[in-house]
Amino acid sequence: KKIALVTGGYSGEATISYLSAKTVYNNLDKEKFDVYKIDINPNGWVYENEEGAKSAVDRSDFSVIDGGRKINFDAIALCIHGTPGEDGKLQGYFDMLHLPYTTCDAATSALTFNKRFTVAVAAFAGIKVARSVLFHKNNFTNADEVVQNLQFPVFVKPNNGGSSIGMSKVASFSEELGVAIEKAFKEDDQVLVEEFIEGREFTIGVFKAKGKIITLPMTEVKSHNYFFDYEAKYLGKSEEITPAQVDEAVAEKVRAAAKKIYAALNCRGVIRIDFIYNEAAGEPYMLEVNTVPGQSDASIVPQQVRAMGWTLKEFYTALIEETCA
Ligand code: DAL
Ligand code: MG
Repeated sequence: KKIALVTGGYSGEATISYLSAKTVYNNLDKEKFDVYKIDINPNGWVYENEEGAKSAVDRSDFSVIDGGRKINFDAIALCIHGTPGEDGKLQGYFDMLHLPYTTCDAATSALTFNKRFTVAVAAFAGIKVARSVLFHKNNFTNADEVVQNLQFPVFVKPNNGGSSIGMSKVASFSEELGVAIEKAFKEDDQVLVEEFIEGREFTIGVFKAKGKIITLPMTEVKSHNYFFDYEAKYLGKSEEITPAQVDEAVAEKVRAAAKKIYAALNCRGVIRIDFIYNEAAGEPYMLEVNTVPGQSDASIVPQQVRAMGWTLKEFYTALIEETCA
């Protein structure tokens, strides 16, 4: 099978996308798959062959020329965090070309890339979520709505984004809130302000194989920073315990919520869902869904795969085979 490993992207997460793609490339079974590396970046869509020679991808059918021959792909391993690989845009394009890909479909990707829409669907499915307020850049005047509706501390996030880029935690009502909102508006036209939920942070990979939804062993995240920010995620300023040392009853509630969300959102491939387990409520609160979870050396899903007793090679092979099936 000919697989296009597609990476890059147009957002600040491109750096992470390249690291994720590297892990996937190194762990794809080259006896089973011919893997072609494609970089989609703001300057072009570029195929790089084994010798490092670069050429443009034909966007009319997503084919490339290799050694004078036209190559059409059997499947796409999509390794782009952020736009256009996690928000449904490339998914829609690949659908039009009838090319199967590893991620959730276009509708689910577009929906889950919007944090506000995701919590709305999760809440509808009976999952606990934080209260929040959404601001739009074109009619934002002040943050009064936050004070009227939410309790501090709050998280301020670009509504469509990832890797905690442009995100802040604000302890109390102060000028810090306005600064945080302006910072988030630099990344996105929509800003989500969410109530902080007290509790332990867990994150869990979920995937589907042969029609069955399967959870990976979950991870507890303990950030050394004020919250699990970019530095904590990728520059070692956090502790990630996999599998999480937690009561089986708590773990089961998180797993059950994760499967319910996966089904409610009609997901596909491997995703990762972030939760806070609130002791008083006795329930996990869903923070968000990542439909293209990081696969870099510092990322969580690879840790969870190993904790399950699988090699990364077995895991990525299973995902591609599922995509091709
Ligand atoms: N958005 C980052 C890559 C993640 O979810 O792992
Ligand atoms: Mg995320």
